[in-house]
Amino acid sequence: MQTIDVMLGRRSYPIHIESGLLNNIPSLLGEVNGDRKWVIISEPKLLDLHGNTLRLNLEGAGFACDVITLEEGEASKNLSVYGSIIERLIELQCDRTSAILALGGGVVGDVSGFVAATFLRGIDYYQIPTTCLGMVDSAIGGKTGVNSPSGKNLVGAVYQPKGVLIDPELLHSLPRGEVQSGLGEVIKYGAIRDKDFFHKVSSWLDDTDAFPFEDAIAQCCTIKAEIISKDEREGSLRRILNFGHTVGHALEAQLGYGTIRHGEAVSYGMKCAGKISCEMGFLSEEEFILLSSTIGKLPLPTLPEIDKTALMKFIRVDKKWENLQLHFVLLKQLGKAVISTAVTEDLIKNSLEVFE
Ligand SMILES: NC(=O)c1ccc[n+]([C@@H]2O[C@H](COP(=O)([O-])OP(=O)(O)OC[C@H]3O[C@@H](n4cnc5c(N)ncnc54)[C@H](O)[C@@H]3O)[C@@H](O)[C@H]2O)c1
Ligand SMILES: [Zn+2]
Repeated sequence: MQTIDVMLGRRSYPIHIESGLLNNIPSLLGEVNGDRKWVIISEPKLLDLHGNTLRLNLEGAGFACDVITLEEGEASKNLSVYGSIIERLIELQCDRTSAILALGGGVVGDVSGFVAATFLRGIDYYQIPTTCLGMVDSAIGGKTGVNSPSGKNLVGAVYQPKGVLIDPELLHSLPRGEVQSGLGEVIKYGAIRDKDFFHKVSSWLDDTDAFPFEDAIAQCCTIKAEIISKDEREGSLRRILNFGHTVGHALEAQLGYGTIRHGEAVSYGMKCAGKISCEMGFLSEEEFILLSSTIGKLPLPTLPEIDKTALMKFIRVDKKWENLQLHFVLLKQLGKAVISTAVTEDLIKNSLEVFE
């Protein structure tokens, strides 16, 4: 088992990674069990696939366990689902000692984390990610929350889990497209922070059937843990995790959420950011080509014709959230990200040619 620590003083926590780890969860949590109640929050399908086994294992080891489900999909990430989970916790007579196990992808993780952050002003929770995106990104770092009708992630809290328990074998049941979308974020980690890892990922992508998920996930978690440990609240360093996300988010919003997967949109966004980095004289032409060809190894969906002016409107909305200044993540070189406030709309518009 590989263990990576997120170092945040008294709020530090471990990320455990091992194939088959799901079966060891009772022993990993044995020390913190006591008399507390455990609530697994998941989706019906995920309970059938993995959650019922987890529950049986926990109960067999003497844990008091309940289950709450939410429907799968981004539509569940809202205040009404959040409210109904809180009510259910009250019905189940949960108290301050109760703990949540969030078994699912980013949707389950974000909602459950926000429930944990706010129920009785905060109870313990553990992330058990089941998607590639969850394992390398959303389960780590404590960003929790739900969407409002006006936009994504507008309500939430930074509230760290007590631990992240990753079993890469759970990816076997994940649809291939979801796995490949998560690999977009894997490329991101190499591009922003670790050139050697970038090169490894690039060659691993030549044969995705043999992709070494456990090692790749561990390296992504190491990078994210290091960044979170230094900058929990997105002062500046944490911003580099948004590489590819300015254009990526705009693309998701314009095409409609659910039309393109997050990691796919980010992959296109990374190509744009790479091109801008090159145009502004940061990234060499050679490294930009390497970045693009690595992203090109992912089977990205063909985009419909994009209305560039409309896309720019979505980018400007993103801008509002950054004190009216667009903090654009660029690459100085592969493995080294830099934040720029000098990226013009023209540069962004020109970079959209990578879509063609
Ligand atoms: N908190 C953060 O730091 C952070 C970071 C990135 C993204 N996010 C959020 O994460 C969400 C997206 O997460 P996601 O991509 O994991 O999507 P998701 O949670 O919707 O999961 C994708 C699909 O895969 C299914 N699924 C999950 N695990 C499975 C498995 N092992 N086998 C079979 N099917 C499985 C789910 O039912 C769902 O249909 C977005 O809401 C995004 O805003 C949060
Ligand atoms: Zn992302």
